[in-house]
Amino acid sequence: MTITLTALENQLAALKQEAIQAIATTDNLPHLEELRIAYLGKKGQLSKVLGGLGKLDAADRPRIGATANEVKEALQTELDRKRNDLQRLQIQAQLAAETLDVTMPAVYRPQGRRHPINSTIDRVVDIFVGLGYTLAQGPEMETDYYNFEALNTPADHPARDMQDTFYLPDGNLLRTHTSSVQIRYMEENEPPVRIIAPGRCYRRDTVDATHAAVFHQIEILAVDEGLTFTDLKGTVKEFIAQMFGDDLPIRFRASYFPFTEPSAEVDVQWRGRWLEVLGCGMVDPNVLKAVGYDPEVYTGFAAGFGVERFAMVLHQIDDIRRLYSSDLRFLRQF
Ligand code: DAH
Repeated sequence: MTITLTALENQLAALKQEAIQAIATTDNLPHLEELRIAYLGKKGQLSKVLGGLGKLDAADRPRIGATANEVKEALQTELDRKRNDLQRLQIQAQLAAETLDVTMPAVYRPQGRRHPINSTIDRVVDIFVGLGYTLAQGPEMETDYYNFEALNTPADHPARDMQDTFYLPDGNLLRTHTSSVQIRYMEENEPPVRIIAPGRCYRRDTVDATHAAVFHQIEILAVDEGLTFTDLKGTVKEFIAQMFGDDLPIRFRASYFPFTEPSAEVDVQWRGRWLEVLGCGMVDPNVLKAVGYDPEVYTGFAAGFGVERFAMVLHQIDDIRRLYSSDLRFLRQF
């Protein structure tokens, strides 16, 4: 059976038209690849048509060969163009799907911070822990005994006027200082003692820029054999150096507290003037006796200071009341 030139040419023309149509209408790359294989592959339709070439007159073969090549090139061009189009669309779709809208409002997550009172306490405690002290605590509601009596401040003592006290109906009181923790700790522990006791205190002070009815103190107590005023000075100096910096001039000024003898107050040079930062002294023998320590064997030193004072100096806060206003605009600065 022979095949005519025209018949083959017609087949090629039909094949071309059909393929171009199919390529134009496909909408995805895998299908396009299937079409390429179906039309131009080794066992594809073009090969099949060319299979009939052998049955053609030898003279007609070059012409059909040229037409076949033309069809092949035309289809290849269409395939390439379509592949480019589909790839571009695919990338565009992917970009659209993965786009980050950087102008979208973020979810607000408020971040907590340490209150300046707490961070000041932490700093002081860290310094003394570094010097070998351990943390001690006592109750805020106290008996007259722990707050005054055992601290060498009997009922008729004039020093009680220094600390206007909130008395409770049952005869107890709100502690006016953390010195009461000294007594509680020494009653329960034998020397040597090295403690630091931060805590809340209460006084019937008129509230103003530097006084609050509720405030914080930090108490230091060391008791051992052979402790002297020199040890107290060295400890205070080391503490002030770590807290405020190395070359800050400091001075010890003679003072009075019922529970220490001798007593002193410490001032630091701060912004061109002397600023009182703490009270201290050698533990009065009467205090040691009250807890059953032998003052002939043991000596001790103690110190106490107001946390708010330190926080105000460190952070240049002008009014103590700001520390308790719970104003976030203020607190967020720390
Ligand atoms: N308790 C005293 C006050 O509130 C401060 C103080 C002074 C504590 C001397 C001490 C000290 O331990 O030795 O004013």
